[in-house]
Amino acid sequence: MNKDEAAPETRLIHTRAARLGRVTVNPPVERASTVLFRDEAGLYGAKPTYGRMGLTVHRELESGMCELEGARHARLASNGLQACALAITTCVSAGDHLLYPDCSYGPTARFCEKRLRETGVEAERYDPRIGAGIEALFKSNTKAVFIESPGSLTFEVGDAPAMIAAAKARGIRTICDNTWGAGLLHQPLALGADISVQALTKYVVGHADAFGGAVMTRDAGLAGRIAATSEEWGIGLAPDDAYLAVRGLRTLATRLRAHEAAGLEMAHWLAARSEVADVLHPALPDHPDHALWKRDFTGSNGLFGIILNPVPEGGMERFFETLSLFGLGFSWGGFESLIIPCDQQLTRTKGSWTEGRAGPLLRLHIGLEATADLKADLSAAFTALSAS
Ligand SMILES: Cc1ncc(COP(=O)(O)O)c(C=O)c1O
Repeated sequence: MNKDEAAPETRLIHTRAARLGRVTVNPPVERASTVLFRDEAGLYGAKPTYGRMGLTVHRELESGMCELEGARHARLASNGLQACALAITTCVSAGDHLLYPDCSYGPTARFCEKRLRETGVEAERYDPRIGAGIEALFKSNTKAVFIESPGSLTFEVGDAPAMIAAAKARGIRTICDNTWGAGLLHQPLALGADISVQALTKYVVGHADAFGGAVMTRDAGLAGRIAATSEEWGIGLAPDDAYLAVRGLRTLATRLRAHEAAGLEMAHWLAARSEVADVLHPALPDHPDHALWKRDFTGSNGLFGIILNPVPEGGMERFFETLSLFGLGFSWGGFESLIIPCDQQLTRTKGSWTEGRAGPLLRLHIGLEATADLKADLSAAFTALSAS
């Protein structure tokens, strides 16, 4: 069997970087800053010369991320936010203009608004549903368009191919945060994007026990610039975290299928509840961007939002207090179900989110528990929410 022709889940299981000496199923974790050389020529000739550049486990994770994203080059970072910042700062510098979506992950938006602006980059939000209309926002100094689809908290699906085509025609770089798509559900590089970024912290690690980020590209020149930026900033990933990400890659496809099935079942169940005004899940046929999702994604996962109908006084406190399986916590992509109220985090300035809506916005991550138990947990919380 030619491994290159195998299915993605097969390739993720059989990716192995070149190793010195004995070959084991899993890569060795070398906890090392110092790498020793026999002679002076080695010291100044070989790579890696220092642990920060990564060792065996990092090379294995980079190969796995290339398989996952259809990339030729991958660079690791210590978390997803750092990977986004690395990709963006590789593409823009003082005097440049960057476009980023109104639905960006909050800390990414903050990075653009504060850090980038302080360094002389003009960062401008765009409506995530703008599609080819993004062209009207291009300026002579526009150097990059950041895309995050579906959007954080609000789950709009952008027309990435239309935005990428418009940017390409003007020589503008495109960077996609593909954390929701996780590589198996969406491949921005195949759609023509220059860079795909993932927070490995979510589905790749999959167990809420490590951080990680990765920046992928097919372009050798761009990969060299990403590597240089990374080395200038001293960006790297701890070997134990890299190991947990490699381990996560082996079971990613199986876990994602389980999250997808449970997520869809819970989304349909929630859509039928009287307490729920709207379910924000792009795989549901009545989601406004369902057609785009169907065209550009091969599946979904366990992360989506709901908008409640107006809630009686004290209802949300009673709702969250009653939940015993759903944890109240940030992050997603792990084995456990989580829920958060989102209104406190929304900083939208464009599109429908600036207008009124029925009630509070919640984000759910559906984990790997039995869906009957999750429904029982939410049913009890809904009863408490409505009690006066
Ligand atoms: C879409 C998206 N991108 C990036 C990140 C940042 O990842 P990390 O927490 O590893 O910095 C997150 C975190 O929630 C995210 O949801």
